[in-house]
Parts: sequence; structure tokens; C-alpha cells
Amino acid sequence: MFICYVFSSFGQMRTCKVTSTKERRFTDVTYKVIIKGMTSCEERDILNGITGAVNPGEVLALMGPSGSGKTTLLNLLGGRLIQSTVSGSITYNDQPYSKFLKSRIGFVTQDDVLFPHLTVKETLTYAARLRLPKVLTRQQKEKRAVDVIYELGLERCQDTMIGGSFVRGVSGGERKRVCIGNEIIINPSLLFLDEPTSGLDSTTALRTIQTLQDIAEVGKTVITTIHQPSSRLFHKFDKLILLGKGSLLYFGKASEAIDYFSSIGCSPLIAMNPAEFLLDLANGNLTDTSVPSELEDKVQMENSETETGNGKPPPAVVHEVMFDFDSSFYSTRGAL
Ligand SMILES: Nc1ncnc2c1ncn2[C@@H]1O[C@H](COP(=O)(O)OP(=O)(O)OP(=O)(O)O)[C@@H](O)[C@H]1O
Ligand SMILES: [Mg+2]
Repeated sequence: MFICYVFSSFGQMRTCKVTSTKERRFTDVTYKVIIKGMTSCEERDILNGITGAVNPGEVLALMGPSGSGKTTLLNLLGGRLIQSTVSGSITYNDQPYSKFLKSRIGFVTQDDVLFPHLTVKETLTYAARLRLPKVLTRQQKEKRAVDVIYELGLERCQDTMIGGSFVRGVSGGERKRVCIGNEIIINPSLLFLDEPTSGLDSTTALRTIQTLQDIAEVGKTVITTIHQPSSRLFHKFDKLILLGKGSLLYFGKASEAIDYFSSIGCSPLIAMNPAEFLLDLANGNLTDTSVPSELEDKVQMENSETETGNGKPPPAVVHEVMFDFDSSFYSTRGAL
């Protein structure tokens, strides 16, 4: 009885599919900072007119080059940056940010802050005891911690110390999952994450994003910044915001981003990771279709007669050569 009450007050039950229409919407969001110098004050635009929306059940990725404003936008959407220099509207289900909403938000920061000498289980149990409401008994809180451990696949390392600079502990991916666990323990409706996959290999990163998608699937809204996702990981996102120097370059379905840029005349000349291509665009590398130098040699040797007039090999040929290069690389390595 109690559990039902608490979980429904924090969000939807974990077992049901999305039916709610709650929506996080932001319109024309602008953020400026005033940089004070020795003699003068300078106003600097950090974000310019960012508009978008995200629904429960969706994972929204904020992508862009370093310094483009991803963390700033995430902080604004998470209600962590309430200043007079912010303009535009940010609403949750047509309501502005409120104290009640704050209790329904989980925020995983880029830098993990965990006690190095506690084990994974102890960390999550303390989080449950401290953050879950008083109406739950101690046993119910401890059960919630155990549930989160299984939900995040941390059962194998639950008795390992977190570790830090001087104490060896869990791996980077496990550590990141503990940080996510610290936030999902309160069953938030909205989960914000700042670069949850940075420093992880692509398989662990994929598993982390899969976890986020599972969280979204039961009716939560997940907003995450991401640096350079692999192509498999990129396709896991429902929506995408691409930022460049604080301006919005794209907002919409992640799966339609490449088609959109093709429709306005920007398409990759070689087969490449869509995220990498979008970051190139956001960095202003519109014309850089260069091929790695190893490939250039091959292209010139093997396909001199198929070169196009502008000195660049046709895309189909480059693709073929890349594939050749990859397989010869792996077969050589395998023979060693
Ligand atoms: N309070 C502030 N004062 C001055 N400059 C700021 C402030 N907050 C953000 N900036 C600047 O705004 C820009 C965007 O910062 P932000 O941290 O949002 O970038 P980011 O896209 O998250 O970058 P990264 O990928 O490196 O984490 C940066 O150039 C940063 O220096
Ligand atoms: Mg950042």
C-alpha cells in the first residue's frame, strides 16, 4: 500500500508503459553571462534562442562541440541555473519550475562525487535511507536499493568498494552506473545526465545508454549530453538537439537528422558515423571530406582512373577502400 503511494507520487509505476502526456517544453531559451573585467563589464551570449520539447518515454540527446553550451542547457532545463540573465520559457507539463518539480528530478553530474571507502551496496543503501520519504520503512528502503542494483546490473560488484585516486575500486562504467543509481533510487520523472558515457568504451557506453532507454520506456523523461557517440549508440536516441556555439542547429528525431542535413545540401561524402558528421557540421567543417592519409595512398594507387574532376575519389570507391583497409588491418593483427 505504502509503496504504491510513494511510487505513484514520484512518477509512474515501473511496470506500466507510457500513457502520460507530460511534456518538458522549452521555447526560445537564451542565457547570457556578464564577465567582469578590471575596467569594464562584458555581456556574453552562451545560449541563443533554443527551442524544443521532450515527452515521457523519450531519450533526448544534447550534442555539440566542446563549449557549445550542452552543460549550460542541461543545467537550465534541470532548474539548476535560475538567474535574471535567463530568458525564454521552460515548462513541465505547462507548469514552470517549482519546488515540487525539483523533488521529481534526478541529476547526474559529469564529475562523480562518491565516497571511495563505501561499497556499491552501502552507497545505494545510504542514498535510499536518506532520500526516500519517511513513510517507507527501513526494510522497504533497503529493498529499493537492492532493486536498483539489479536494475543496473551491479550485482557482481555490489560488495566492492567504490575506490578513488588512492584506493582501487569498481571500474569506470560501474562507477557511472552507481551515480545513475544514486539518482534513480528516488524514481524521478525526469532524469538529467551530463556526459554519462565519457571515458567509457563503446560497448559499456552502449550498455549505459540502453539502461537509460529502459528507464525512459517505463514513462520517464531522460535528457543527456553526449560527446561523441558511436553510430550504434546514436541510433538509440529518440530526439536530438545539435548545438553550435550556443545556437540551435537541429532539433527533432535523431533518426531524421542526417536526412534533414542532406535536404539542405550537407551530406557526408564518405560513409561515416552520423554523430561524427554532425559534430563536423557543428564545428563548421562543411567542406572537410578528407580521407585519412593511409586511405589516400590506396585510393590513388588503386583507383587513379576512377577519380572525379575535383581530385577527390567518388564516395562509393572510398567506402570500398575503407572496407578493404579495415579487413587487411584486422587480418594482419590477427596473424601476429
Ligand atoms: N558562468 C559563466 N561565465 C563565463 N563563461 C561561461 C559561464 N558558463 C558557461 N560559460 C561558457 O559558455 C560556454 C559553454 O559552456 P558549457 O559548459 O555549457 O559547454 P559544453 O558544451 O558543456 O562543453 P564541454 O563539452 O566541454 O563540457 C563555454 O565557452 C563556457 O566557457
Ligand atoms: Mg559540458
